[in-house]
Amino acid sequence: MDTIYIRGGRRLEGEIPIHGAKNSALPLLAATLLARGVSEIHNCPHLSDVEASMSILRLLGCRVERQENTVTVDASVVCCDSIPDELMREMRSSIVFLGAVVARCGQANLTYPGGCELGPRPIDLHLAALRRLGVTVEEEYGHIRCRVERCLQGADITLAFPSVGATENVLLAACTAQGVTVLHNAAREPEIDDLCLFLNACGAKIRRLADGALHIVGVPRLHGAICRVMPDRIEAATYLAAAAVTGGAVTLRDCNRLHLAAILPVFEESGCHIEAASDAICIQAPTRLRRLGTIRTMPYPGFPTDAGAPLVAAACVAQGTSVFVEGIFENRYKYVDELARLGASVCVDGRVAVVEGVSALQAAPVTCTDLRGGAALVVAALAAHGETAITGLQHLDRGYDGLTDCLRKVGALVRRENG
Ligand code: UD1
Repeated sequence: MDTIYIRGGRRLEGEIPIHGAKNSALPLLAATLLARGVSEIHNCPHLSDVEASMSILRLLGCRVERQENTVTVDASVVCCDSIPDELMREMRSSIVFLGAVVARCGQANLTYPGGCELGPRPIDLHLAALRRLGVTVEEEYGHIRCRVERCLQGADITLAFPSVGATENVLLAACTAQGVTVLHNAAREPEIDDLCLFLNACGAKIRRLADGALHIVGVPRLHGAICRVMPDRIEAATYLAAAAVTGGAVTLRDCNRLHLAAILPVFEESGCHIEAASDAICIQAPTRLRRLGTIRTMPYPGFPTDAGAPLVAAACVAQGTSVFVEGIFENRYKYVDELARLGASVCVDGRVAVVEGVSALQAAPVTCTDLRGGAALVVAALAAHGETAITGLQHLDRGYDGLTDCLRKVGALVRRENG
């Protein structure tokens, strides 16, 4: 069991290059299954979730290779339409393979991804949308069996909620369906646009309508293509929070400020000076942050739920009271008990967390409860007096490529040890 040790209180200074986005890389890898040929995904982060996606592709019959940050997938031959339970459980977002497998094979056998650390994660919207496209779905004892009788048929679909995963599954299933699909109330996250860009490069005909709906004209088949994974906006938000709690001056390279439009003003409100160019963001933080105000997480372009936890950690050492209202998931505050071990004062009532900033945090042994909760512990540890030991790193490894190297680069006293 690995442990990360962080000795807090060091001012972070320097540059951090931002990696490719996990939440874009995963659907892009699923999309390569549709392309009858070779695709290259550049800027693909080194993450356990990406490894799990590569394992799924191999199991389905694809040839998959990684060279540094480029993953090459040859999906000329796909010989399997089932994903075993271990892989479905290893990565909840493996559900994004459903649309791709159904479209490529005409059927799919998966197991139900079940709940997760953030509370129940239903897939009713995914399944209802696929049924509209002509998929017969049978659910039995945790198994999902999908079949297409003749061919997928384009349809007019309205999502009750702009689910990111359901939008991705509709895109994957609809681009080779017969006829036109219009997906109303589709998710608007930039990762969705990244997926559309790649699918269109593969020969799909997808466009975003003025009201945000996605218009997909089905084409007979897709070919391989090359794409570059967009920068990870949540990784960027995490390192901004890390700089902010240490009174630091950090430049993030290779990031897109437009994707951070809901996040940057929160740092500015708390007293940080931000300068943003098209692909770099500089943050200069005051010795102590002011309160972060009230933050409500919501679908894009609102404040992203995944950036909530690292900002809660920043609020823990700010002057005054900050309030977080979680608008997406039911149970996103499990990590708060771990923050309390470091001396944070956070009161949770359902989807609301009230954070009373304290003047100092104290090091303690803590465990990651989930990916972004783990990021909150890292941010808090950077601000704490003494050396914090963080375990449960399998969560952080899902979403932060080279975490300790990135932090060390800007002066943090951090090390990772085995056993
Ligand atoms: C994706 C992101 C995740 C992010 C989330 C919201 C990936 C791999 N993961 O997750 O990091 O936190 O978007 O921005 O991209 N829901 C239903 N029924 C459904 C589908 C969703 O009720 O069929 C609910 C969920 O329980 C949740 C909300 O809708 O409360 C949002 O889920 P969704 O947008 O689908 O998130 P994911 O795609 O799972």
